[in-house]
Amino acid sequence: MATVTLKVNGKELTVDCAPRTLLVEALREHLRLTGTHVGCDTSQCGACVVHVDGRSVKSCTMLAVEADGAALTTIEGMAQGGELHPMQAAFKEHHGLQCGFCTPGMIMSSTDLCARSATTPTEGEVRHWLEGNLCRCTGYHNIVKAVRAGADGMRGGK
Ligand code: FES
Ligand code: FES
Repeated sequence: MATVTLKVNGKELTVDCAPRTLLVEALREHLRLTGTHVGCDTSQCGACVVHVDGRSVKSCTMLAVEADGAALTTIEGMAQGGELHPMQAAFKEHHGLQCGFCTPGMIMSSTDLCARSATTPTEGEVRHWLEGNLCRCTGYHNIVKAVRAGADGMRGGK
């Protein structure tokens, strides 16, 4: 057994798990944070993206022990004080989801992209960045619109 200490959505948590436990399993099965989804388990779909120390990571490609000591944000930690994160609000407003299965990963990847750029990413930049996030409903057009609006929202509507 390994003991892994994580700061998840601002809370210090400890997980006792087998050393081979994937980060996504630790989140879903040990911490019951089931907003992070498993679509493929082979690093292709992006449904499992979370932020590890502020950077988007496919949590099915990382062992929980590798995240020991890290600060994590999952989709459950995005809304603050009952208010949706601007990227969540933009997905809602622009209908950036259909079944919603890919949405947590899309939102975590997109907020990382938009936090890195000083300006609103172009449609091409959004599409390129989200290459590792698959939407089985194929609603990409509205997702791109939502991400660009979310980028504006993250900078206070500019
Ligand atoms: S479940 Fe991690 S990339 Fe698909
Ligand atoms: S909205 Fe259904 S998988 Fe993307």
